[in-house]
Amino acid sequence: MEIGIIGAGHIGGTLTRRFSALGHQVMVANSRGPQTLADLASETGAKAVTVKEAARAQDVVVVTIPEKNIPKLPRDLFADTPATTVIVDTGNYYPQRDGLIEEIESGTPESRWVADQLGRPVIKAFNNIYAQHLLERGKPKGSPDRIALPVAGDDKRAKEVVMRLVDELGFDPVDAGGLDESWRQQPGTPVYATDFDAEGVRRALAQASRERPPQFRAATAGPPRTSPPRGGSDSPSASAR
Ligand SMILES: NC(=O)c1ccc[n+]([C@@H]2O[C@H](COP(=O)([O-])OP(=O)(O)OC[C@H]3O[C@@H](n4cnc5c(N)ncnc54)[C@H](OP(=O)(O)O)[C@@H]3O)[C@@H](O)[C@H]2O)c1
Repeated sequence: MEIGIIGAGHIGGTLTRRFSALGHQVMVANSRGPQTLADLASETGAKAVTVKEAARAQDVVVVTIPEKNIPKLPRDLFADTPATTVIVDTGNYYPQRDGLIEEIESGTPESRWVADQLGRPVIKAFNNIYAQHLLERGKPKGSPDRIALPVAGDDKRAKEVVMRLVDELGFDPVDAGGLDESWRQQPGTPVYATDFDAEGVRRALAQASRERPPQFRAATAGPPRTSPPRGGSDSPSASAR
């Protein structure tokens, strides 16, 4: 498949490595331009491109940047993207990092907000696993204790495409319902950063509470930060940073 990845950090870098190793054609972009991604490109064989070029991928575009930067992406980002291209959102809202996002604080699921900002439907995936685990803990189908990942979204075909990729990467995909149910896999929920198997993921999704835990709310999360707390509770990346 041709896969564009917008964001080349912990998750974007990991997906670039893994998708390239699986034989997909990967185009990867960051905010500073393709010239800053030469090392990642030569390591993986992926093509370093601009954000708009990555958005033109034929099959899948993964958006994997901090939530606060989503509104800074070009307004016409997907103007030249085929309607059939599947857009994946890996994002998590951390008020300490992202500042206050009113709609999310008042209950809009994070990925619904991302889809509204992007003007395209998204599939929510890869948000609940540490980047390092995504890189290293994939296993062949049928292996005992294979980690499962929830995948949420409204379009059946698009969700199937992402679920197949999850499986190729070495994880059991679990259909987590539509995007309006995707709060069940947000930060602070039972499925978040816990590496459950498929049965455990289904149970955790069912047990989730819609209430945002205080540490994930702007009013109670402490002052805005420009960098994640050291070894602390930022995105699942904490261990990878
Ligand atoms: N890290 C994890 O383990 C993990 C796990 C699951 C989900 N997540 C979530 O996934 C998202 C990405 O996390 P991450 O840890 O991979 O982030 P990260 O390591 O901080 O990397 C962010 C990447 O996004 C790029 N970026 C930022 N603003 C951009 C813009 N306006 N246009 C293009 N590229 C832009 C950055 O490029 P520059 O360096 O050029 O600015 C960088 O490559 C976040 O929402 C995070 O909460 C993270």
